[in-house]
Amino acid sequence: MRSVSLCLASILAAGAPAYAHNYTWLNHPSELPYYGQSPPVYPTPQTNGSSSPKWAAAYAKARDILAQLELEEKVNITRGYTGQCVGNTGAVTRLGIEPICFADAPDGIRGSDFVSAFPSQSHLAATWDKDLFLAYGKAIGKEYHDKGINVALGPVAGPLGRIARAGRNWEGLSSDPYLAGAGMYHVTDGMQSSGVIATAKHFLLNEQEFRRRPNQTYDPIGEAISSNVDDRTIHELYAWPFYDALKAGAACVMCSYQRANNSYACQNSKLLNGILKTEMHFEGFIVSDWEAQHTGIASANAGLDVVMPDGGYWGANLTQAVNNGSVAIDRLDDMVTRTLAAYYYLEQEDYPEVGVYSDTVEHPIVNVQGDHKKIIREIGAAGTVLVKNVDNTLPLKSPQFVSIYGYDADIMAQPWENVARYGGGYEVNHLWNTFNGTLITGGGSGGNIPPYVISPFKAIQDRVIEDGGIVRWNFWSENPHVSATSQVCLVFINAYASESFDRPSLVDTFSDNLVNNVATNCSNTVVVVHSAGVRLVDAWIDNPNVTAVVFAGTPGQESGHSLVDLLYGDVTPSGKLHYTVAKQEADYGSLLNPTISDDWFPQSDFDEGLYIDYRAFDSKLNVTPRFEFGFGLSYTIFSYADLNVEALADASNSSSLAAFPDTSIALVQGGHPQLWDTLWNVTATVTNNGTTGASGAEVAQLYISIPTAPLRQLRGFDKVGPLAPGESATAVFELRRRDLSVWNVVAQEWELQKGSYKLWVGASSRDLRLEGEIVVS
Ligand SMILES: *[C@@H]1O[C@H](CO)[C@@H](O)[C@H](O)[C@H]1NC(C)=O
Ligand SMILES: *[C@@H]1O[C@H](CO)[C@@H](O)[C@H](O)[C@H]1NC(C)=O
Ligand SMILES: *[C@@H]1O[C@H](CO)[C@@H](O)[C@H](O)[C@H]1NC(C)=O
Ligand SMILES: *[C@@H]1O[C@H](CO)[C@@H](O)[C@H](O)[C@H]1NC(C)=O
Ligand SMILES: *[C@@H]1O[C@H](CO)[C@@H](O)[C@H](O)[C@H]1NC(C)=O
Ligand SMILES: *[C@@H]1O[C@H](CO)[C@@H](O)[C@H](O)[C@H]1NC(C)=O
Ligand SMILES: *[C@@H]1O[C@H](CO)[C@@H](O)[C@H](O)[C@H]1NC(C)=O
Ligand SMILES: *[C@@H]1O[C@H](CO)[C@@H](O)[C@H](O)[C@H]1NC(C)=O
Ligand SMILES: *[C@@H]1O[C@H](CO)[C@@H](O)[C@H](O)[C@H]1NC(C)=O
Ligand SMILES: *[C@@H]1O[C@H](CO)[C@@H](O)[C@H](O)[C@H]1NC(C)=O
Ligand SMILES: *[C@@H]1O[C@H](CO)[C@@H](O)[C@H](O)[C@H]1NC(C)=O
Ligand SMILES: *[C@@H]1O[C@H](CO)[C@@H](O)[C@H](O)[C@H]1NC(C)=O
Repeated sequence: MRSVSLCLASILAAGAPAYAHNYTWLNHPSELPYYGQSPPVYPTPQTNGSSSPKWAAAYAKARDILAQLELEEKVNITRGYTGQCVGNTGAVTRLGIEPICFADAPDGIRGSDFVSAFPSQSHLAATWDKDLFLAYGKAIGKEYHDKGINVALGPVAGPLGRIARAGRNWEGLSSDPYLAGAGMYHVTDGMQSSGVIATAKHFLLNEQEFRRRPNQTYDPIGEAISSNVDDRTIHELYAWPFYDALKAGAACVMCSYQRANNSYACQNSKLLNGILKTEMHFEGFIVSDWEAQHTGIASANAGLDVVMPDGGYWGANLTQAVNNGSVAIDRLDDMVTRTLAAYYYLEQEDYPEVGVYSDTVEHPIVNVQGDHKKIIREIGAAGTVLVKNVDNTLPLKSPQFVSIYGYDADIMAQPWENVARYGGGYEVNHLWNTFNGTLITGGGSGGNIPPYVISPFKAIQDRVIEDGGIVRWNFWSENPHVSATSQVCLVFINAYASESFDRPSLVDTFSDNLVNNVATNCSNTVVVVHSAGVRLVDAWIDNPNVTAVVFAGTPGQESGHSLVDLLYGDVTPSGKLHYTVAKQEADYGSLLNPTISDDWFPQSDFDEGLYIDYRAFDSKLNVTPRFEFGFGLSYTIFSYADLNVEALADASNSSSLAAFPDTSIALVQGGHPQLWDTLWNVTATVTNNGTTGASGAEVAQLYISIPTAPLRQLRGFDKVGPLAPGESATAVFELRRRDLSVWNVVAQEWELQKGSYKLWVGASSRDLRLEGEIVVS
C-alpha cells in the first residue's frame, strides 16, 4: 500500500525521474482498439472454514456475530475510516466491536516509534535460510502484536521481480517463485504464530511502478497499466508464492493497483473469485490496496471484501446496492464473515490495545523491540553476498590502517526529520539525493523507520579501535585522497529504489568513478554495495585492485555490525544471489525497463511467459551473466557428492502418480492437498573441503528440468552447516507433486508430466555439481 497524504504526491513527483508529460491522447477512449479481456468468474465462492478445524471454529464464531448485525453494521465492517492506524475498519458501536487496525510495512512497523527496522524481505531471501525466514516472521509478528496491530501488511511476493528496474522488487523475496514461495510460507507462519494476521500482497501482476495507478499527477493521465499474462505463466510464476502463503494460513490478501487483462485487480473476478478464492480455496478476506478500488458493485461481486482507506465506492452505496439487489446479501455476509473469521482464526479476542501514535503528540511509550536486534544482525550478515575475493582478501586480518570512502559509509549529516519523509521511510541514497548517507532500506510504504542506525563507519571504527589501528575517511569526494599506507580501502556505494517510481538505471557514474578512482591508488580496494535491487558492477569488477566485493543489500538497523561480522570473519558468508546480475543493462533485454506508454489504456504484454531472470538467461537470451542466480562465495569451499534420488512410498503406487490430483478430494486453503504430497526425496553430501581453516554454511540448490518447461528451475534448497573443515552434512530436497507439475490450461489443473526429469544439485544455477534423473511413468 501507500500512505495517502497529499504532500506525499508532490514529494514523489519532485523526486521521481521526470517523465515527459506531453502525452498524445492517441488512444483516447473513443478510438480504443480491442484489447484482451478478463474472463468472468461469478459468483464469489462462499466458504465456511472447511480447510481445518481451526478455520471451522473461527467461522462458527464469525457467524454468531454476523447473525446479530444490522445491514449498516455489516457494511461498516467492510470499509475503512481515518483512525489511529494506517487502516481501520468501522466499529460496531452497539456491540462493542472495535475497528480492526492495519499497518505497514513488510520489514517492520512504519510510522511508529520504539519498533525495529528489519532487513528488507529481499535481503532475507538472500540468506536462503528457512530457519531465518521463520525467525524473521516471528519477530516482526511479535512487534505488530505487541503494538496492538491486528493486520500486518506483508509479506510480499508481488512484484515478483520481472523487471530489473522496477521500484519495489526489494520489498519482495526473489524473482524465483520457488524461493519466494518458501519465504512467503515461513514468514507468514512466523508472523501468524505471533498472533498478527499476515497479508500476502500484492495480488497480482503488479510488476512495475510506472502507471501502476490511474490518473496520477506524476504519470500520464489515463487508466493504469494492464498486465496481460497467459494463464500458465500466472500459475507457474506469479501466483505460485501465494499458494505457499495460503498454505501457511495467511488470513488476508491484498489486491493490487494495476489492471490484469484490462480489469482492475480489485475488481478482477478471474483473479479474486477464480484463482484466489476457488482454486486456492482462500478462507480469509481480501483488502484493497489503498485507493485501489475503482467501482462499487463490480468490486463486491468480483470478490473484494474490505475497501481501504475510506468508504471508497462502498459505505452507504453498498447498503443501497444490497437493498436494490445489485449485490446479494449473501455476498455482503460473506465479506463480513471472512473478515471476522480471520480475526478469530488468529484468536485476537484478547489483544493488546493499539499502541501506534503520531510523532507530533506526546504519548505513552510502547516499546516492542525486545531483543530483535540480535536476529536483525544475524540476518544482516547471512543475507550479505560475497561475489569477489582475490587471494583471501577477506576476511580482514586486523589491518592497522583502514581507509573508508563513499557517501554510503555513514549516516547522513541531516537531522532525523529531514530523512523521515514519506511516512517515516529512511530514504537515503546517492541517486535520490546525493550524500544522504548509508542505505538500510528502500523508500515508500515498504520502508521502515529505525530506532537507531549502526552505520558501517561506526562499526568499522569500533573494530579498528579494538585492534589498536587508525582510520582515515572521506565520504564526499568522487576522487578522494588515498593514503599511501592504507592496508585496505573500503569503498561504500549504494543504489536506491522506492515505491511509486521505477529506478532510472542499474548503475550510476559517480559511484563507478569513485570505485575506480580509489582503486587507482589502492591495491587492496574492497567494495561494499548496499542496494535495493540489482546493481551492476562491470565498470570495475575486473579491476585487479578491486580485491573483494560484497553485495550488502538493505540490511536494516544493525547494518554496520552485520557487515563487520562478515568482513572480519566472525561470520563466514553464505548468502547467495536471489536474482541474476548481468554484465550490462542491455543483457536483460525486454526485462530491463517497465512498459512506458502514453496511451489512455496502456498495455504491458508479458510475452516472455515463464522466461524471466535466470530462466531467460539460461534458455532464451543466451547471455552469460556476470553473477548468476544462486551464486555466492564463502571463506571456504565445499564439495558435493553422493546424489541419492529416492522415490517415496506414494510414488511407487501408480495412483499417486496420476497426472492430476484426485478430484474426489476437497480443496483446502493452499489448493488441492495432494499438490503438497512429497513424491521424491533427493539427498546429497556437502563437505567443507577448503584449506583456509574457515567453518562455513553452504546453500545447496536443486534445479530440475520439467518436460515442456524452462531448461532449469529451482525446486529445492537446503542451507547446511556451519561445517568445520573436513566436516560433511546431508542436504535434503523434498520434491512435492506441485514442484514436478505444470499448469494445464485446458484441464485447469496442475499436471504431472510423464517422462524423464533431469535434475542437478549444485552451488548456484550454473555451478551444477551432481546430476540425476526422475522418471514419471
Ligand atoms: C505537445 O505536443 C504537441 C503535439 O505534438 C506539440 O504541438 C506541443 O508543442 C507539445 N508541447 C510541449 C510542451 O512539448
Ligand atoms: C488474461 O488473458 C489470457 C489470454 O486470454 C488468459 O490466458 C488469462 O487467464 C487471463 N488472465 C486474467 C487474470 O484475466
Ligand atoms: C462447508 O462448505 C463445504 C464445501 O464448500 C460444504 O461441503 C459443506 O457442506 C459446508 N458446511 C456447512 C456446515 O455449511
Ligand atoms: C461505523 O464505524 C465508525 C468508525 O469506527 C463509527 O464511528 C460508527 O459509529 C460505526 N457505525 C455503526 C453503525 O456502528
Ligand atoms: C481517470 O480520469 C478520467 C478522466 O477524468 C476518468 O474518466 C476515469 O474514470 C478516471 N479513472 C479512474 C480509474 O478513476
Ligand atoms: C459512493 O459513491 C459515490 C460515487 O458513486 C462516491 O462519491 C462516494 O464517495 C461513495 N462512497 C460513500 C461512502 O458513500
Ligand atoms: C443500486 O444502488 C447502487 C448504489 O447506489 C447504484 O449504483 C445502482 O445503480 C442501483 N441499481 C439499481 C438497479 O437501482
Ligand atoms: C540529501 O542531500 C541533499 C544534498 O546534500 C540535500 O539537499 C537534501 O536535503 C538531502 N535530503 C535529505 C532527505 O536529507
Ligand atoms: C594517486 O597517487 C598519485 C601518485 O602517488 C598522486 O599523484 C595522486 O594525487 C593520487 N590520487 C589520489 C586521488 O589520491
Ligand atoms: C593498483 O594500485 C597500485 C598501488 O597504488 C598502483 O600502483 C597501480 O597502478 C594500481 N593498478 C591499477 C590497475 O590501477
Ligand atoms: C528425506 O530424507 C531425509 C534424510 O534421509 C529424511 O530426514 C527425511 O525425513 C526424508 N523425507 C521424507 C519425506 O521422507
Ligand atoms: C575438495 O573436493 C574437490 C572435489 O571433490 C577435490 O578436487 C579437492 O581435492 C578437495 N580438496 C581438499 C582440500 O580436500
